[in-house]
Order: sequence, then structure tokens, then C-alpha cells
Amino acid sequence: MLSWDDIDTKPQQPEKAPEPRPAPEAQAKAVQEPNATYTTETTATPTSPAALNASAAVDAARAVIADMDPAPGLEELEMGAARIQVDEKRIINCRADLNQLVPFKYDWAWQKYLDGCANHWMPQEINMNKDVSMWKDPNGLTDDERRIVEYSLGYFSTADSLVANNLVLAIYRHITNPECRQYLLRQSFEEAIHTHAYQYCVESLGMDEGEVFNMYREVPAVAKKAAWSLSHTQAIGDPNFKTGTVESDQELLRNLIAFYAVTEGIFFYCGFSQILSMGRRNKMTGVAEQFQYILRDESMHLNFGIDVINQIKLENPHLWTAEFQQEVSQMILEGMELEVAYARDTMPRGVLGMNAKMMEEYLQFIANRRLSQLGLKEQFPGAQNPFPWMSEIMDLRKEKNFFETRVIEYQTGGALQW
Ligand SMILES: [Fe+2]
Ligand SMILES: [Fe+2]
Repeated sequence: MLSWDDIDTKPQQPEKAPEPRPAPEAQAKAVQEPNATYTTETTATPTSPAALNASAAVDAARAVIADMDPAPGLEELEMGAARIQVDEKRIINCRADLNQLVPFKYDWAWQKYLDGCANHWMPQEINMNKDVSMWKDPNGLTDDERRIVEYSLGYFSTADSLVANNLVLAIYRHITNPECRQYLLRQSFEEAIHTHAYQYCVESLGMDEGEVFNMYREVPAVAKKAAWSLSHTQAIGDPNFKTGTVESDQELLRNLIAFYAVTEGIFFYCGFSQILSMGRRNKMTGVAEQFQYILRDESMHLNFGIDVINQIKLENPHLWTAEFQQEVSQMILEGMELEVAYARDTMPRGVLGMNAKMMEEYLQFIANRRLSQLGLKEQFPGAQNPFPWMSEIMDLRKEKNFFETRVIEYQTGGALQW
């Protein structure tokens, strides 16, 4: 092991003679100036090779700064470096300066950023001791309940990485509005916290990490959902992809719908309701509490995504053709079918007061919600929510009252009006 005694603190001598300097006149002048000898703590004198090298480097840096163009990249913006006007802001294909956060145009985006920050939480704050004992007790959970915990952690431990990667590597550069980008950055961090939370559960319970983190590739009902999401990120993630045509703008909309309305808006709901049902039965309460906080964040991600999609529709009505609406409806139905398949795989029998048939009805209810949020016709008239207790936790119309006590507890500053 290296110790301080092993470190030679004597000044190092240059191994070879200094290179000829490009501008001897400038360096000679710099050496004569009292502040121009930047020798740090070596024993170099103002005229030593080390000092001359340092002053040459400073001169070179000064020369670069003196010749610097103060507006690099601004030529790409139609409005150059002008002060931005609210009317110039657009969610996509905006050519105005993206570095000017204010004046705000989309107050809802900024408000969601503030709300997200005020709800900050970390996985280690949740006590997992009871879960560890229950998981290790052979009689703690039934096989069917264990299966639900394993599948949930298997799907979610990688799903949030898929969402985060999509945000950072695909969506971010095409959303040309600074207040929305501010929220995307906050959401990206929340996705990192969620992945952390799942890893924290897997680690606390001593589960086989290789098995859990590979379920998204190896277990069909999990893998199909992940593959469906990934199939909608590829085109946008291509470095050569650009918005600005009907086709490419619709492709971006497909991505937003696939991730916000389907992945975060449908694919999370079977697993969330199963784990929350477990928590209500006083089982795996630490895992359930982690899921509660995640679900609160996800409700906001979903609502932000819906607002972004609807704003893009408003600003670009030519994209929302009858044919495209039909395609979006089908995407929602595909997502619902995948989630129903997941429900059947995770619940071969009734468990925790629910079964696959009830979950199917619940998912029809959720699919109706997503369709109507996007301004599309509901496909399952009269579908009811068979889990009324879920409304207390995640009422889709009043999610701002969701986990009210915890919201207050976790405020990190300012007043949060939920
Ligand atoms: Fe997440
Ligand atoms: Fe999310």
C-alpha cells in the first residue's frame, strides 16, 4: 500500500530540455513582469526553464481568450443572441436561444420542476429491516408473493434505466424549450434514484443480482415490455436524427407517447399495484414504501409527458392526422396487451386480493385514461377500477393529494401546495 512516506515531495526536475518557445519576445516580456512568473511551490527562479514554460503557457492562454469569439454557435439560432420573447418559445423546432430560461412560457413545466425538487427523497431513508426478516423467513411469504417481488424488481430495476437513457440520449436534444429541459434534467435524476431504490431492495434482500438485472432479457413477459420500449427509442437516439419534417416530428411524438403514456403510464401499473397491495397487507412494507415514493414521482413524469405531447399537438396540429391518431391508439392498446400478459405471468392464481382478470379490467380503465388524456376515444366503455383502494394511493385525477403526509415530511424547502 502506498503511504505518504513513499511520495517524493522534492521538486521534480524536467526530464528533458524545454521545447523551443513559439514567441520569445512575448515570453521575455512576461518574465520581466512581477506577476508573470507562475512557479507554484517549486524552487524555480523567474528565469528557470520551468518558469519560462509556465509563463509561455499563460501567454498562450491569454492569447486564446483575447481572440475568443463571444458568440460561438449563435449563428445556428435564427434570432442570434437577441433577448428572447415569450412568443418565440416552442416545445420542438424552436430556433430561439435555448439558454434563456426566462421569461417562462410553459409555467406548468417550471412548476413541475419545483414540485419534483420539493419531493426529493433517497432510498436509504427507508427502513428495510422487516423486509429482510420476512424475505429470509421460509414462511414469510407464499411462493406467489415471492414471484411478484422478484418480477417487480426484475422489470423495474432495468425499466428506469431505459427511461433515463431515453431522456438523456434521445429526447433531451429535441425538446427545444429551456423550462421543459429543466424538468427533463430533474426527471433524469429521479430515474437514477429509482434505479438506486430497486438496487437497494435487491441488495437488502440478498437477491441474486445477476438474475434480477437480466430478467429484462431472459423472462419473456418482462423482456417483451422492455423490447417494446426500446424499439421506440432507436430512431430518436440516432445521432443523425433531426426533427423538422412531418415524419421526424411524428417519430418524436411516437417516442414521447411510448415512454410517457405507455412505459411510465401503463407498464408500471401492474407491478405497482401488486407491491402496494402487499404493503397494505403489512408485507414487505419497506419495498412497498420505496414503490410509493417512486409512484408519486412517476405520476408527475406521466403528467409532464402528457402536457408536453398535448402542447406539441397544439403548436403543430398538422402532425395529429386521423391516421396518426389511429396509430397512437394502437400503441396504447399494444402497451395494455403487454401489461395484461405480464399480469397473467405474475399471477397464475389469485394473490394479494387480486387476480389477472381483475388486473385486465384495471388496465382497461388505465388505457381509457391514457387515451382520453391524449384526446383520443376510449376503447373500453364503462371499464371500472376494480381496486378502489388504489384511488386512495394514486388517484389519477387527484394525484397531488397522493401520500399527503409524506409529501409534507419530505419537503426540502418552500411551501408545496399539493
Ligand atoms: Fe422512474
Ligand atoms: Fe419516470
